[in-house]
Amino acid sequence: MRSSARFNASCEEVLLRLFRSFTASSEVVRHRGAFISFVVALALFAAPHSLHAQSDCLACHGDKSMQDAAGHSIAVDGSTFSASIHGSMKCNNCHADIKEYPHPEHIARVECKSCHADEASSLAGSVHSSSKDHPCSSCHGDAHSIFPKSDSRSAVYPLNIPKTCGNCHGTDGMARKHGLPSVYPNYMDSIHGFALSKEGLLVAANCQSCHGSHKILSRKDPQSPTFKANIPKTCGTCHAKIDADYERGSHGHAVASGNLKAPVCTDCHTAHAILQPTESEFRMQSTPICGSCHKDKLSTYHDTFHSQLGSLGGYVETARCWDCHGAHEIYPTADPRSPVAKANLVATCGKCHAGANLSFVQYQPHANAHDRKLNPALFYVRLFMNLLLISVLTFFVIHTILWLIRSRFDQVRRNGSNGGNNA
Ligand code: HEC
Ligand code: HEC
Ligand code: HEC
Ligand code: HEC
Ligand code: HEC
Ligand code: HEC
Ligand code: HEC
Ligand code: HEC
Ligand code: HEC
Ligand code: HEC
Ligand code: HEC
Repeated sequence: MRSSARFNASCEEVLLRLFRSFTASSEVVRHRGAFISFVVALALFAAPHSLHAQSDCLACHGDKSMQDAAGHSIAVDGSTFSASIHGSMKCNNCHADIKEYPHPEHIARVECKSCHADEASSLAGSVHSSSKDHPCSSCHGDAHSIFPKSDSRSAVYPLNIPKTCGNCHGTDGMARKHGLPSVYPNYMDSIHGFALSKEGLLVAANCQSCHGSHKILSRKDPQSPTFKANIPKTCGTCHAKIDADYERGSHGHAVASGNLKAPVCTDCHTAHAILQPTESEFRMQSTPICGSCHKDKLSTYHDTFHSQLGSLGGYVETARCWDCHGAHEIYPTADPRSPVAKANLVATCGKCHAGANLSFVQYQPHANAHDRKLNPALFYVRLFMNLLLISVLTFFVIHTILWLIRSRFDQVRRNGSNGGNNA
């Protein structure tokens, strides 16, 4: 027999509750009909009473202090429930096996999937597949206060999603138990998180925009919107022009043709800690990012005035990789669309150097004296200087050795002639 700690339902008490609900739910019967409804209730109870309307159930469960034997609240807030998306349903549309009181010995769990099969099957194929660890309520909240996703009270309303996911993905346990970084704090400090939480910008990217909702997949899965090759399209759903520029350029082409060594949006911007690109913090950290793949170009750039200016400490306006090459629409130098193609150099350098002309742009931003093909003049000058150095050195070494031999020879000769004198 099911037992209840707080609720020792005597017949009278149940009848009284039903009676109260009947009188409350109908203004008309308040006085003249009160007695009639009491009789109806009595009839119901004698049946044994079958329960149809929400109000039938709420007559008992509407009591805020109601608890089951284990001390868990079994109260349901009737007004929140009736405002919720399922508010027009009868309680036993979901609690199908509860038709009367006393309730059956074993009450079946409500399966959301009986009505929402698509969402349930997507969830079952996702990273959150365990229905024990990830019941629908883990993201949608209490079963009796679910609102449409467009309602600001919903746990999956765009402005509430980061918090909903962050309940788990903002905890240290995530790193310890699952080896996943705690991304929520990073996201909240990012340009998207800021736009969402501080400006209430509904169109800013929230977790769902990049990951989806029910069929969330690991970034290692080629079907995932966060799989490396799919990232430009994922960001491009909102940043369409930048995506188009990127796809036209060398990096986009390389990725599209399967070269995953080339960068996608998140290699340069990160996924969750995206900064405003005009900020000095972004500009300072981006040169080494380009340089992490283009090591030779970074080291030659470091030899130039532009880089040395930038490394004086603090932030200085100087030419950085993308000021000359572009950030998204990047091409090889030989491509006439490249801002560093010969024909475009005057304009590119001229952005900062007013009055730049053909002779000014002879300056080599990646001068590399070791590269004969790229910098022949520099290469031969270096070769000549090196040869000169070597011949001068060789001359002096030979000269010194000969000098040593000769001075030794002189000494021996002098010693020999001294000995003759003493004898
Ligand atoms: C006469 C009062 C009363 C009415 C009417 C009533 N219940 Fe209950 N309900 C209880 C009590 C008391 C319990 C505690 C367990 C038990 O004794 O069966 C309970 C338990 C439950 C539980 C299980 C809670 C748990 O512990 O997990 C559910 C679900 C439930 N009721 C739903 C309903 C629904 C749906 C209706 C209307 C169709 C309804 N109840 C009508 C009194 C009532
Ligand atoms: C959309 C489906 C749905 C509807 C409609 C619904 N419930 Fe529930 N209810 C649930 C789910 C899911 C749970 C969580 C426990 C479970 O899985 O059975 C639950 C749990 C309960 C519990 C146990 C205590 C708790 O809060 O966990 C009670 C009591 C209850 N419901 C009463 C009601 C009453 C009364 C109504 C009508 C006013 C109602 N429910 C309408 C889905 C529903
Ligand atoms: C990992 C979090 C998460 C879990 C778990 C989850 N949902 Fe959702 N659900 C969401 C998000 C986020 C949205 C909003 C999607 C959007 O904005 O397009 C949503 C939306 C929905 C919608 C509205 C769909 C639409 O397009 O209008 C339904 C219905 C839904 N979920 C049902 C379920 C059911 C049923 C379960 C359990 C089987 C479940 N959800 C589990 C996160 C989740
Ligand atoms: C008996 C069938 C049924 C069950 C069981 C059920 N739902 Fe629903 N649900 C519906 C219907 C019907 C709607 C659409 C109501 C409308 O559009 O007016 C809905 C709507 C929703 C929505 C809102 C979709 C939107 O537009 O944003 C969410 C979220 C949702 N249900 C989640 C759940 C969850 C979570 C559970 C389990 C606790 C659940 N549902 C159980 C029938 C059900
Ligand atoms: C109830 C806690 C919980 C909630 C809420 C939750 N997650 Fe998760 N999530 C997890 C756990 C635990 C894992 C690890 C699953 C595993 O590896 O077994 C995970 C895995 C992931 C992964 C895969 C990481 C990888 O590459 O392996 C992503 C992405 C993710 N969650 C995103 C989300 C998003 C987006 C939301 C909100 C819509 C969300 N999660 C809500 C607990 C949660
Ligand atoms: C602008 C798009 C975007 C947004 C917004 C976003 N993510 Fe991600 N997330 C990604 C990408 C892309 C990856 C793949 C890893 C990478 O490129 O760094 C990822 C990876 C993850 C991972 C796996 C981390 C790992 O190292 O395996 C988790 C967990 C995750 N995201 C959860 C979330 C949660 C929770 C939110 C919201 C608070 C969120 N993400 C918001 C794009 C996004
Ligand atoms: C759901 C749409 C959406 C998606 C998807 C999205 N963004 Fe954004 N993003 C925005 C909006 C809206 C802003 C403007 C925020 C503001 O101005 O406050 C923004 C701002 C930015 C900014 C700051 C520069 C600027 O113009 O304000 C960068 C950088 C950025 N996003 C990169 C990314 C990257 C990288 C991805 C993919 C990993 C991505 N975004 C995915 C909507 C999106
Ligand atoms: C190779 C590195 C790199 C890649 C790949 C990259 N970006 Fe950028 N992005 C930058 C740099 C550097 C800037 C700053 C440009 C400037 O200030 O002139 C920038 C600027 C931006 C801005 C600010 C607005 C603007 O037009 O300057 C947004 C938004 C943005 N990127 C989004 C993206 C998206 C979306 C992708 C992927 C389709 C992407 N980025 C790929 C390096 C990159
Ligand atoms: C994750 C590694 C990576 C990062 C970061 C990166 N690149 Fe690249 N880049 C590549 C690869 C790989 C190619 C070659 C594409 C191909 O084979 O066509 C390339 C091509 C280029 C080219 C064209 C030269 C050619 O041979 O096609 C230029 C110019 C260039 N990158 C500049 C930059 C700049 C500027 C940045 C920073 C804003 C940057 N790259 C960041 C990997 C990277
Ligand atoms: C002041 C302008 C300027 C800056 C700053 C600059 N470059 Fe260049 N870059 C050029 C010019 C001009 C060329 C073509 C001549 C050459 O190769 O020396 C070039 C050539 C290249 C090439 C070879 C392209 C090809 O088609 O083979 C790569 C890759 C490259 N730069 C990457 C970078 C990276 C990475 C940085 C930052 C660390 C950077 N550049 C900074 C102007 C610049
Ligand atoms: C984003 C702005 C910017 C771009 C683009 C740029 N520079 Fe500079 N450059 C600077 C700044 C700032 C200095 C240091 C102040 C000064 O001397 O004007 C500098 C200094 C120099 C110097 C040494 C000092 C001098 O004025 O003689 C040379 C040479 C030079 N740049 C060449 C170039 C060439 C060639 C290009 C095109 C390939 C170029 N720069 C593109 C900003 C830029």
